[in-house]
Amino acid sequence: MDLGPGPVSIQLNVNNQAQSINCEPCLTLLQVLREKLGLTGAKQVCDRATCGACTVLVNGKRVYSCSILAIDAQDAKIETVESLAPDGTLDALQQAFVAADASQCGYCTPGFIMSATAFLADNPSPTKEDIRKGMCGNLCRCGTYAGIEEALLSMSKTPKTSAMATEGRKRG
Ligand code: FES
Ligand code: FES
Repeated sequence: MDLGPGPVSIQLNVNNQAQSINCEPCLTLLQVLREKLGLTGAKQVCDRATCGACTVLVNGKRVYSCSILAIDAQDAKIETVESLAPDGTLDALQQAFVAADASQCGYCTPGFIMSATAFLADNPSPTKEDIRKGMCGNLCRCGTYAGIEEALLSMSKTPKTSAMATEGRKRG
């Protein structure tokens, strides 16, 4: 494999589409998604594997896309927030965020949504404590954590936690 330092050809599978990209091997997956593929849902905030704003799924697992090289993501299945609403219709989790008013500036939201997508796949009936621990890799500077918890609780597959979420909305 040509490792640069000049542009090299890399192959990515993003949102079920094969992409052939010419780029320097030093580019992160986040840079390639945003600057080469025009997928600007994932955000660059800390660029240091701290905030989670750049979270995407790589083979179904949450990954800070600012912290892996695009060249190392070849052969993996990459999913960005754009994959959740391909025709512009928000998916159920995105709708839950809207219903719970879980966003202010929105800069952290795509990362939270992707992180929560993977979290809920592994934890279909989470408690508040589960959510706080399981979502601790994503930070919101606007402090919308209560709304995010409510959104995730409303997605729970168990009647008990769904009822808690409903109760929370009534109180809110
Ligand atoms: S921008 Fe990647 S973790 Fe903050
Ligand atoms: S909504 Fe502004 S950083 Fe989270």
